[in-house]
Amino acid sequence: MKTRRNKLLGVNKEVIVGDFKINNDGVLFKDTRDDIEQLIPICSPLLVKATTRNKEGNDWGKLLIFVDPEGQQKMYHMASSKNQNAIISDLVHRGLAVSSHSRSRHLLAQYLRSAPSQNMMLSSSIPGWVKNSFVLPYNSFGPDEVVFSGDPNIGFGTHGNWKTNVGKFCRGNSRLVFAASVAFAAPLMRVVGIEGGGFHFRGLSSKGKTTALQVAASVCGKVATAPGEDSYLLNWKSTANSFEDVAQSHNDAVMVIDELGQADPKSVGDICYMLANGQGKARMGTAKRSWRVLFITSGEISLAEHMSKAGVETMIGQEVRLLEIGTDCTEHGLFENIHSSKSPAEFSNRMKAATANHYGLPFKKFLAHLTSNTGTVEANCRAHMESFVQAVMPQNAHGVVPRAALRFALVAAAGEIATERKLTGWRKGEALRAAKKCFASWMEHRKTFDPVAMTVDKVQKFILENNTRFELVGGKVRLNGSKVGYQKKGKFLILPDVFRDSVCAGINPESVADALERAGYLETSGPNRKKKQERIDGQLAYFYSVPDSILKAR
Ligand SMILES: Nc1ncnc2c1ncn2[C@@H]1O[C@H](COP(=O)(O)OP(=O)(O)OP(=O)(O)O)[C@@H](O)[C@H]1O
Ligand SMILES: [Mg+2]
Repeated sequence: MKTRRNKLLGVNKEVIVGDFKINNDGVLFKDTRDDIEQLIPICSPLLVKATTRNKEGNDWGKLLIFVDPEGQQKMYHMASSKNQNAIISDLVHRGLAVSSHSRSRHLLAQYLRSAPSQNMMLSSSIPGWVKNSFVLPYNSFGPDEVVFSGDPNIGFGTHGNWKTNVGKFCRGNSRLVFAASVAFAAPLMRVVGIEGGGFHFRGLSSKGKTTALQVAASVCGKVATAPGEDSYLLNWKSTANSFEDVAQSHNDAVMVIDELGQADPKSVGDICYMLANGQGKARMGTAKRSWRVLFITSGEISLAEHMSKAGVETMIGQEVRLLEIGTDCTEHGLFENIHSSKSPAEFSNRMKAATANHYGLPFKKFLAHLTSNTGTVEANCRAHMESFVQAVMPQNAHGVVPRAALRFALVAAAGEIATERKLTGWRKGEALRAAKKCFASWMEHRKTFDPVAMTVDKVQKFILENNTRFELVGGKVRLNGSKVGYQKKGKFLILPDVFRDSVCAGINPESVADALERAGYLETSGPNRKKKQERIDGQLAYFYSVPDSILKAR
């Protein structure tokens, strides 16, 4: 045991630090009181590996290294500002053996205060990027070794084999592949300069939503199976009072927050803003907290429906921060492929069990790759994002669409990069396809809150439903019903009174025309002249002129 301890701590011979000796037996104090020299045992072997401070030159501390009674080497970050008794209790809790000598605790405190180290290391109290490195509790990736100096019990952990037990079974399931890809996407936000934001999985009860969130969480850490266990999966209720803390402890990572229905309907919209914008509230005497996160949530109802319980309407800004994705995909609910399970319920239960036992490794491997090849990953990520955007961006994309598309694109790219690194068990293109499906679902949802999208949808439906009431100029098709306008050279010319009474039906025609124009689906005669003159049968008349490309609008 002694040799093992020595080897683990890197101590080949005795180390002397002032009146302290550190050798195979532990830390000893050379007491010379009353001219009699005696060695007082203090604790098991413990050394200071480095002196630490954060990148702003604050939060000074020491990185300690010691051996527990089973011979395991442990690290502990000691903040210089922390109470010595609390530090010793922490060390004992983690397995440092303190001797029974009456002066041992007092001497240990003295040793911890005075023991020097030649090494300087950077520290960070929150996970995420520090210069060109990425830090997690107990792990540092990249060129500079960074010490995590915050509370390490924030859910990151590693166990089992995620790829073969979880990743592989996501195949063919767009929502599962997408959810897992969100976890890979979070550290890429800084790399490609994308803002934070969320996704909301919305659908019927007991159809796999929480299962999908567990899959996302398991990329980074354990999903608790019993109360009291640390869990990477959060819920709105227990997080309500500490969103700023929790957001910081997921900096540059994904926050997975289940059950939107449990959030306070009055404040949930503001919380979505806050999480996405990455800034806490200013408070007297403390620095404003900041973070960069992606978040996923789930629920049976939409953000707007939930907020309406408190009589609050969503703003477009909130909707674009929490992009809703429907989960009622097939007769199997959220799942599109249940692999060899007998039922979707059995598949869900298998996935839940797998996420409790296999987690964390893909995220760490992803970070190791990302921090040692940041430039290459950035270029690759941008290329994947560009091809995603080109594939999905509708003609005349406007307003919130390009902004939302970028977040989906980042997720698609992250999933592809993780797949290229052989971390997921998916085929090439799987993450891209999954993100396209999820984006299409969001585009449908957008029609419920975006006035421009609502207008385009309304006019598109009017034209489709009244197709036979447009007289074909120069054609012989007979009208079926009263005339609503003309169809001429790739455009629908809607009669002004029909536009006012039937298309707009109570809504101000100017604002409808304005929205149509902004979407690129209205040909006008110039600024503030929404109607266009057209010659029909030799007569000039004014119409609302809508290009027939509106029929393909999404
Ligand atoms: N697609 C499905 N079809 C049928 N049963 C399912 C399906 N998905 C999950 N279940 C069953 O429902 C249980 C709960 O699954 P999960 O937590 O994923 O549901 P959920 O969609 O989050 O439901 P809720 O909205 O009530 O939270 C599972 O343990 C499983 O037995
Ligand atoms: Mg659920």
